[in-house]
Amino acid sequence: MKKLVAATHNKGKLAEMKKILSEYDIISVGEFDNGVEPIEDGETFAENALIKARSAYASSNLPSFGDDSGLCVDALNGAPGVYSARFAETPKACNERLLRELEGVKEEDRTARFISVIAYVDGQTEFVVEGKCEGKILFSEEGTEGFGYDPLFYSIDLNKPFGIATMEEKNSVSHRARAIAELKKKLMTL
Ligand code: IMP
Repeated sequence: MKKLVAATHNKGKLAEMKKILSEYDIISVGEFDNGVEPIEDGETFAENALIKARSAYASSNLPSFGDDSGLCVDALNGAPGVYSARFAETPKACNERLLRELEGVKEEDRTARFISVIAYVDGQTEFVVEGKCEGKILFSEEGTEGFGYDPLFYSIDLNKPFGIATMEEKNSVSHRARAIAELKKKLMTL
């Protein structure tokens, strides 16, 4: 089985990647980097994904991929974007800040999308792929499923908030699942 290094220490992400990329032997970068993570100082999802993938390749010398994701809200000119994890101190505070910044914004103007970009690096080839899922920011949190901004995200694909969607439902439309599917397609052409 071809080995692929995933540039993440997050067990949930790793499990999701192993499930979708079942034809590959997915190894966590944690086996090579002693838990030292590169500084994600890119200005775009693609730059950050490349930083992670290049760093994983440098540590492992094996084909590697890294991902970066976040929420882009149209009424906030794409914010929080690459700063999604750092929008406030805690995920709860991030959601509170998002609601505050959207105060007075009407339902039809609350359009947003989750974006996931995955970069692949193997010493010869580098490429990036992207997955998106469209939605709207709710006026208050709904449900407790998922993580991060999920309780505020109404999915157009599912016609329901991610906060009340099962994991299977979310994985059937999520930005990350779509990006991993694109990665899989590209890998098959190498
Ligand atoms: P990263 O890709 O792990 O760096 O994710 C960056 C941040 O984007 C997370 O900390 C969350 O705030 C947000 N985010 C990314 N994907 C999701 C998702 O599927 N649901 C909710 N929040 C997400």
